[in-house]
Amino acid sequence: MAEKRNIFLVGPMGAGKSTIGRHLADQLHLEFFDSDQEIERRTGADIAWVFDLEGEEGFRVREESVISDLTEMQGIVLATGGGSVVSKEVRNKLSARGIVVYLETPIEKQVARTQRDKRRPLLQTEEAPRDVLERLAEEREPLYKEVADFVVRTDEQSAKVVANQIIEKL
Ligand code: S3P
Repeated sequence: MAEKRNIFLVGPMGAGKSTIGRHLADQLHLEFFDSDQEIERRTGADIAWVFDLEGEEGFRVREESVISDLTEMQGIVLATGGGSVVSKEVRNKLSARGIVVYLETPIEKQVARTQRDKRRPLLQTEEAPRDVLERLAEEREPLYKEVADFVVRTDEQSAKVVANQIIEKL
């Protein structure tokens, strides 16, 4: 991999983007960012608050702006929010500025991993989390595939193993 290239991780909630991203950044000596965390840092509010106050629409505006700024950097690993790829502008920025890796994750894994974390507003509805995740996957999977340079499956392997698989493919 050329010096100071960027790696952008895309995929659904529960794909392990942040955990895998941290391993990658450590091993490649790159700086790690997470778009959700960056939104929280800039607003001083957590993601659930941003959704409450500004709706999903307001959140997406912030997300687009954060990703636009972060993709201007060099030498970073970025874990993107699961819905960010719905924006064509985000997809264009990611493709133009780094290597995009889609972390493909079975629905069962998405359900299991997001159950341990109650902070995701899109899953705090009347609809069963599995149904939400399936509906989102239908819309987003083609977009993850479209924007990705390559795909890695995150299933039973540890985050470290997945990070190593990504490094081998770079
Ligand atoms: C979302 C995914 C979340 C966060 C927000 C919306 C989505 O990020 O951006 O709750 O639309 O899929 P993670 O993919 O990091 O959970």
